Amino acid sequence: MSELLIVNGRLLDPANRIDGVRHLAIDGGKVVEVSEKPFAAERLRQAEVLEAKDCWVMPGFIDLHVHLREPGQEYKETVASGSAAAVAGGFSTVCCMPNTKPVNDNASITEFILRKAREADLARVHPIGAISKGSKGEELAEIGELRQAGCVAISDDGRPVSSSALMRRALEYTRTFGMPVVAHEEDLCLVGKGVMHEGKVSTRLGLRGIPGAAEESMIARDLALVELTGGRLHVAHISCAGSVRLVREAKRRGLPVTCEAAPHHFTLTDEEVARSQYGTSTKVNPPLRADADREAVLEGLADGTIDAIATDHAPHSIVEKELEYDLAANGMIGLETALPLSLELVRQNRIEPLRLAELLSTGPACCFKLAGGSLSVGVPADVTVVAPGEAWTCEPARLHSKSKNTPFAGWQLKGRAKATVVGGRIRQRDGAISTHGGRES
Ligand code: DOR
Repeated sequence: MSELLIVNGRLLDPANRIDGVRHLAIDGGKVVEVSEKPFAAERLRQAEVLEAKDCWVMPGFIDLHVHLREPGQEYKETVASGSAAAVAGGFSTVCCMPNTKPVNDNASITEFILRKAREADLARVHPIGAISKGSKGEELAEIGELRQAGCVAISDDGRPVSSSALMRRALEYTRTFGMPVVAHEEDLCLVGKGVMHEGKVSTRLGLRGIPGAAEESMIARDLALVELTGGRLHVAHISCAGSVRLVREAKRRGLPVTCEAAPHHFTLTDEEVARSQYGTSTKVNPPLRADADREAVLEGLADGTIDAIATDHAPHSIVEKELEYDLAANGMIGLETALPLSLELVRQNRIEPLRLAELLSTGPACCFKLAGGSLSVGVPADVTVVAPGEAWTCEPARLHSKSKNTPFAGWQLKGRAKATVVGGRIRQRDGAISTHGGRES
């Protein structure tokens, strides 16, 4: 196979503190050269060349939080359709949550997901195993078996671990192999029958609210358990000002805690529920919060409190979504809109482009100790080429996800993944997804 040369792009590689025009050579699936000087004409002639002028060349994006729905809810998403959405959005790697049907709480489900991912042959897929059997919060799952089978973390995402004793045991057990416990932080007693953020907007709309304290109090509990056990905690989809403050302070004290934020939480507020006239694509858990919370999440993204941008890509069909607000399922798709929404942070001077690369790649790689997150010579060549200025309209019918539940339908977005390279192979280019045998569809 000939070399792949990505030329004339602005290389953003936080791991090596590079922000400048570089020419990248890939061979045998690995990065073999990062050069300030253009490649010789003869070398260009013999290689496959990806022209990246006016583009940003970044380490492949890593999404720590997606729902691929397979096995069990293939009408919403499959490993193959979710992987296509991933590479379309610039993600070379995704980590998938265990709330499938049945729950990924044993090696056979993990192996099934990994087989489907190999068959799809698009993004790298790392399963996350369940903390408890059936994610019921009662008995620990076979965590050692899950790890052996290829799970990179454990989580009961979709549900909190309400029992502090069980959470303690999960943190103690995983500590021996440094595996993160990913926490969906929610005190169900405080949530009650809430369906959106509790505040002025919920009062105005007459919808039952979920206070920020439902999330904050559970994070406070889990940080106490981290202190007790020394286990590693990763807080999923952080959404409140108080939560960001707690994690910031815990990191200052040196506790092994990391966290992620979703694009919808730093882009939208609870006002969107009103603006969309109870549009159920705004219903998500944790809910869209108040503007002060959104502001705190933005500050956390900028100052390093938040380690990763993760989409919480949660596909649902119209059967679960075209219902009264109270009855609709929680969740929105996110893989194909995360990049333009995140680029907005750079355009609004909240963060530098290098920090964006950290949040989309280097940071998430660190959280779950995954390969990737850098473009050093010798690493597997996972690369995302971004056209930061490309304008497009979000038309759900044109997205690759099987489900279309996005609150960003009709939005004018700016910035697109021009190419996604996984292990040296182009899996998406100008919106065309690579199919088996390397053809493009
Ligand atoms: O909105 C959400 N949807 N939040 C979750 O925690 C679970 C997810 C899902 O699985 O649909």
